[in-house]
Amino acid sequence: MVDTGHKMVRAVHGGLDLAELRRLGLDPRAVLDFSSSINPLGAPPGVMNAIADVNIAAYPDSDCLELREALGGSLNLEPDRILVGNGSTELIHLLATAFLSKGDGAVIFGPAFGEYLAACAAQGVEPVELVANEADDFRWDVAEACQSIRELRPGMVFLCNPNNPTGLYLDEDKVRRIAAAASASGVLVLDEAYVSFVDGAWDSRPLLEISNVVLLRSMTKDYALTGLRLGYMLSSPEVIAGVKARQYSWSVNAAAQAAGVMCLGRQDHLEQGREAVRIGKAYLVDALVSMGLKCRVGAANFFLASVGDATTIRLRLLKEHGICVRDCASFGLPGYIRIGVRKMDDCRRLVAALDKALSDG
Ligand SMILES: Cc1ncc(COP(=O)(O)O)c(C=O)c1O
Repeated sequence: MVDTGHKMVRAVHGGLDLAELRRLGLDPRAVLDFSSSINPLGAPPGVMNAIADVNIAAYPDSDCLELREALGGSLNLEPDRILVGNGSTELIHLLATAFLSKGDGAVIFGPAFGEYLAACAAQGVEPVELVANEADDFRWDVAEACQSIRELRPGMVFLCNPNNPTGLYLDEDKVRRIAAAASASGVLVLDEAYVSFVDGAWDSRPLLEISNVVLLRSMTKDYALTGLRLGYMLSSPEVIAGVKARQYSWSVNAAAQAAGVMCLGRQDHLEQGREAVRIGKAYLVDALVSMGLKCRVGAANFFLASVGDATTIRLRLLKEHGICVRDCASFGLPGYIRIGVRKMDDCRRLVAALDKALSDG
């Protein structure tokens, strides 16, 4: 075996797995997926037409110029502050490549999305995880965290806001304090993959005044382009240039770029998605609490429910009801499932199935 010299880590996502579905004799198209947390309305109508117009015999634009211009227009930012990626996951890995080398320090506010650890590990970096306090509704002690960052002097700090999987949403003051602590030694990656679904979210763009802050956003989530993958980062032109230099040519395919431009003209679809999340989340939480389940509900379009043994409940829901939820064992939370809010009809099916799955135990 070739020794790469690095301890590579493959992130666990806990979503639909074709091999598992085959083993269980399930048709993937018939499974209701509550494990990924995307716009419950799906992609806006018109996306398929936009894709059909793409000339797939031509290479895509390596600079994603049209999409960056459209993003710049809607975010009021110059296109040189925007880099588009093949999902924000690509950008997480490119950021680590650009700013971390073997032996550097990194900090992850945990529990967190598994790609941060994978991206660090690929650079030979063992990050320090600042684990949120479950007993305090998964809050972090921000003063303590800032102190640790100042002492550790990491090359990169990963903070997801609202956080996956806890849904905790930090206010601007706390994030600014973390950004200030991180900027003394490296880059703060503020992952806002789910911020579009937060009611009354604060505007993080002014943070870009701090040149070492990176904002990460996911159009995969905003517009349910999950199979196409599309994400972008916002930062200073210098950071953007440094990361872009590491991106291979044509990494964002033409269908994703065309879909992205089309979707940006459909902000109303995003607003309707946020409204659907508000309604579905209120219904689900109310129903689950009535069933006697303890729910940890943050600001995101998903929440945690404490079910005892999450692995067993997930499998029972999948096998017997064709419903997939996220088992949070890989986040270090084996008692919780994470539920991404879907449309009301689907939510009703989940409630009935969960009621049965819990009583079958
Ligand atoms: C916190 C977080 N960031 C980024 C991503 C990746 O999204 P994308 O599809 O844009 O790569 C996810 C996906 O689950 C996520 O949970």
